[in-house]
Amino acid sequence: MKKTFGIIGAGNIAKAIAGHLLKAGHSVILSSRKAPSLLEDTIASLGDGAIAGTPAEAAQADIVVLAMPWSQLSTLTPLTNWTDRVVIDATNHFITSDFQLADLGGRASSEVVADHIPGARLVKAFNTLYFKVLEANPQETIGKRVIFISGDHTNAKTEVSTTIETLGFSVVDLGTLAVGGKLQQAKGPLAALNLIRKS
Ligand SMILES: NC(=O)c1ccc[n+]([C@@H]2O[C@H](COP(=O)([O-])OP(=O)(O)OC[C@H]3O[C@@H](n4cnc5c(N)ncnc54)[C@H](OP(=O)(O)O)[C@@H]3O)[C@@H](O)[C@H]2O)c1
Repeated sequence: MKKTFGIIGAGNIAKAIAGHLLKAGHSVILSSRKAPSLLEDTIASLGDGAIAGTPAEAAQADIVVLAMPWSQLSTLTPLTNWTDRVVIDATNHFITSDFQLADLGGRASSEVVADHIPGARLVKAFNTLYFKVLEANPQETIGKRVIFISGDHTNAKTEVSTTIETLGFSVVDLGTLAVGGKLQQAKGPLAALNLIRKS
């Protein structure tokens, strides 16, 4: 089923994810702190099916994707009523340009993200690969590129997993945010691992 994805962010990761979603026939709303009209060039580079909106407009989409800096998470809370919304968390908890990490107090980064979007059904995905790897064709000669997912809501994970598989990736479900989230988050053992599942 074709869906609308609202992306909070319009940078490297937002564009990489949007490219795959558009190719699969989904609609995408990209957003940033800039007025939507200032995202004209970005939208034009993505082609049909992409539009620009405000973060509040993107937050109304069927599935919301977080592709924004960690420092901006608190701006998410007032955007919409997040209860039951399916949200993909592609963020990493870097707080400086030299990749220092936020102190998470022993929690998984996505558990901290979830605090900012109360009631949402959060699935962590798309955060492990450098954007140039993520934007490439997921079908390699020997098989499909792996996307790791984690989350505490089975139905949301199924919905996100099915969507990602239809983009051409192979999904590996790592379990809950507390367990899997920690494996795939920045500096975790699976961070930056470009894994191909052999056909
Ligand atoms: N780059 C990678 O290879 C990579 C890989 C995996 C995960 N990630 C993670 O993905 C996230 C995005 O990274 P990126 O490389 O795409 O960064 P980026 O290229 O700097 O893009 C960030 C985007 O977020 C927008 N933004 C900032 N604050 C916002 C807010 N409050 N509301 C809405 N949009 C906002 C920015 O636009 P304005 O500043 O104009 O608002 C920009 O369009 C980060 O958490 C990063 O750690 C990055």
